[in-house]
Amino acid sequence: MGASVLASPVPAVRKRCHFPFGVAGIREYLRAQGCKGVPVSDLLEHASSFPSMGGTMNGPLLRGLAAKVPDGLAIVELGTWLGAGTAQLAIGVSDRPVPVTIHSYDEFRVNRTDYAWAGIHHPELGLGLGQDTRAMVAAALAPFGQDVRLHAGSILEKRWTGGPIGLFVDDLTKTPIPFHHALVTFGPSWVPGVTALVLMDYFYWKKAERWRRDMLRVQTSFIEAHASHFEPIDFDYAPIPSTRAFLYTRELDFARLPPFKVRRTLDGRAAGAMRRVRRLLGWA
Ligand SMILES: C[S@@+](CC[C@H](N)C(=O)[O-])C[C@H]1O[C@@H](n2cnc3c(N)ncnc32)[C@H](O)[C@@H]1O
Repeated sequence: MGASVLASPVPAVRKRCHFPFGVAGIREYLRAQGCKGVPVSDLLEHASSFPSMGGTMNGPLLRGLAAKVPDGLAIVELGTWLGAGTAQLAIGVSDRPVPVTIHSYDEFRVNRTDYAWAGIHHPELGLGLGQDTRAMVAAALAPFGQDVRLHAGSILEKRWTGGPIGLFVDDLTKTPIPFHHALVTFGPSWVPGVTALVLMDYFYWKKAERWRRDMLRVQTSFIEAHASHFEPIDFDYAPIPSTRAFLYTRELDFARLPPFKVRRTLDGRAAGAMRRVRRLLGWA
């Protein structure tokens, strides 16, 4: 039987403000005075206007778990993109007497995958390949009034010195090398019996081509191999199908975690090169 998620507390209603997504609307907000405490309905409306690759659909889960993070513990999110999941986390911790810091990691540069995705689903954003998105995301998140720190750059270069982590949301490390790096970097700061994990790509491999499945199964394989350290968290609504959440229950020695073996599969750049070859040959 898994742990269950409670609904987040509803912050008090103070002053009505509306924040459409987009820098123009946000600038108006920043110019406005006294819009700090806003009704949760407006925060939800603003959060739901973020272009999303899953964070908005997972909103109830993210808000519920963020609301339960004990004082003094941080929230870590890998894979900000334009801030859809971060916005939900920010609502979850709104109105807390002791602020909860949200650390969100991303390249904050539009890569080929994001560019293609945004071109189909959000052409109105006009995102350019290689565009720096950090300032845009920071502005969109400002209305929540929370301590959100955006860490730009490759996740493989990141280290963690931010203390114990109460909630760890991973929407970035689908493959063995980044996932292993995330575990050895952030895992030692997880607290047994307290830290919740949201793995948004846990079942991503199920919809992938056969030749990539071993590589993309890394999160599922890790949890299965360490099942006595994690307990599934049940939720009573449907988040995106690839998402699973777990409570970290028993200490793991991350320093002794061997790098994942990738047999018969390719990682990172090699997989990209393979895709290009398949496209050139007309196989994809
Ligand atoms: C699936 S998207 C995140 C979606 C977001 N959580 C949402 O719900 O809308 C993954 C993000 O990870 C970023 N990313 C991919 N590889 C990365 C790396 N090695 N280092 C840092 N960021 C990376 C991408 O630029 C992209 O913004």
